[in-house]
Amino acid sequence: MTARERLDVLLDPGSFVEIDRFVTHRTTDFGLGDQQVLGDGVVTGWGRIDGRLVYAFSQDFTVFGGSLSEAHAEKICKIMDLAVQNGAPVIGLNDSGGARIQEGVASLGGYADIFLRNTLASGVVPQISAVLGPCAGGAVYSPAITDFIFMVRGLSYMFVTGPSVVKTVTHEEVDFERLGGADVHGATSGIAHFVHDSELESLTAIRTLLAYVPSNNLDSPPTRPSDDPSDRRAEALLDIVPDEPSKPYDMRDVIRHVVDGGTFFEVQPDYAGNLLVGFGRLGGRSVGIVANQPAVLAGVLDIAASLKGARFIRFCDAFNIPLVTFEDVPGFLPGVAQEHGGIIKHGAKLLYAFCEATVPKLTVITRKAYGGAYDVMSSKHVRGDYNVAWPTAEIAVMGPKGAVEILYKGEATEERAAEYRAKFAHPYQAAARGYLDDIIDPRDTRPRLIDALVTLQTKRDRNPSKKHGNIPL
Ligand code: HXC
Repeated sequence: MTARERLDVLLDPGSFVEIDRFVTHRTTDFGLGDQQVLGDGVVTGWGRIDGRLVYAFSQDFTVFGGSLSEAHAEKICKIMDLAVQNGAPVIGLNDSGGARIQEGVASLGGYADIFLRNTLASGVVPQISAVLGPCAGGAVYSPAITDFIFMVRGLSYMFVTGPSVVKTVTHEEVDFERLGGADVHGATSGIAHFVHDSELESLTAIRTLLAYVPSNNLDSPPTRPSDDPSDRRAEALLDIVPDEPSKPYDMRDVIRHVVDGGTFFEVQPDYAGNLLVGFGRLGGRSVGIVANQPAVLAGVLDIAASLKGARFIRFCDAFNIPLVTFEDVPGFLPGVAQEHGGIIKHGAKLLYAFCEATVPKLTVITRKAYGGAYDVMSSKHVRGDYNVAWPTAEIAVMGPKGAVEILYKGEATEERAAEYRAKFAHPYQAAARGYLDDIIDPRDTRPRLIDALVTLQTKRDRNPSKKHGNIPL
């Protein structure tokens, strides 16, 4: 699609108002003086999505590879300033080779002006980036500061420098796809949050995402009336958790049986599959869902899962979206690779994010809540507002096998493991201390959560006043 066609698909029909159509670059070097194109390679303005105001820019690769000149940057900065002033999301449709080489430091300065605005707008208005062509340099660093990145298979590429520079510097032969294609960033680097097969799907998904998100940090998320009854019990939830504790099941099934209409809008579905994150609605209210996924690596928390969860939680907290956590987690992943990769500091990000979040926090423990992962996953101790467990929950420092190995060294027997299991493999100790507010019939999960969410609508909590915290990066 052309830059304008993309805006037409993204925005409500006829709602786009373009500004700065007559802006041109001011360079005369490299023969650019007689190559003036009105708008200078970027279309900017505002429009509506489901009737709500958004600001948008769309880069045009056919004009100097969509590269960013000083004037092009000024146009983007203008709509970013308007978005923050008026409390509306910014959507960037990126299709750019980065800083315009012919302009030298003026174009670098232009990107820095955008990066500053991306940073200052972070947590104030939602910022969404679609990458819709080969993007390099600033055209990937600006999206990287924004909240969500959308890519399209076979069309979108993101890299700091392209394959030819890579070859010169590191002598690696790599093509666009393997260096920075949509699947690489959707599944391996975790940089892309959404990957689609076409531009149409991608732009439509941006509209869907915005329906879960408020326009700014002072707003509440939009509600959407649902014909799914709030008091609906889900019989199927009785049979989802297998009797055998090490047997996997799909936590998506649990989520779908609980949320309105079974709709779970998953974020980063192909990255760190052991933790699910995404949006849903409960009784018409938007919620952010964080869930261990026993079907992948037994739902263990590793570096990738911690990064994925922490970033999502911080987005929800910044934008007043309540968090619902479904927990079945055997702990943090042990091993040399994880330790050397920094699981301590990365796992701490997830912990930090849950601790600092002041939005309503609801937690359902479906099965395992072991070790540090029990603390981390929105426990009562880190300000969980409504923490419940199913009768199948097991809450302990570690699983029975590992525990008796440590307690009895060479004399760990099946009998001792069974004794440990009888003592800890249930939720009643935690409930006796008030660490769980209740142990519920799994079938009642939806009505219970909706009721809690309604009571928490007026929740007010704040963290101590400070310049900013120091999340372990
Ligand atoms: C000026 C550019 C350009 C740029 C592309 N073009 N990038 N012109 N400045 N940065 C022009 C090309 O000269 C070409 O013009 C047209 O756009 C299409 O580019 P192609 O190379 O033919 O397209 P393609 O093969 O698809 O490759 C796309 C590309 C590649 C991967 C983006 O063009 C590329 O590597 N560009 C440079 C990337 C880069 O290093 N940018 C600066 C990063 S520094 P004609 O006239 O032939 O059609 C930066 C500062 C921020 O951005 C720092 C962040 C921290």
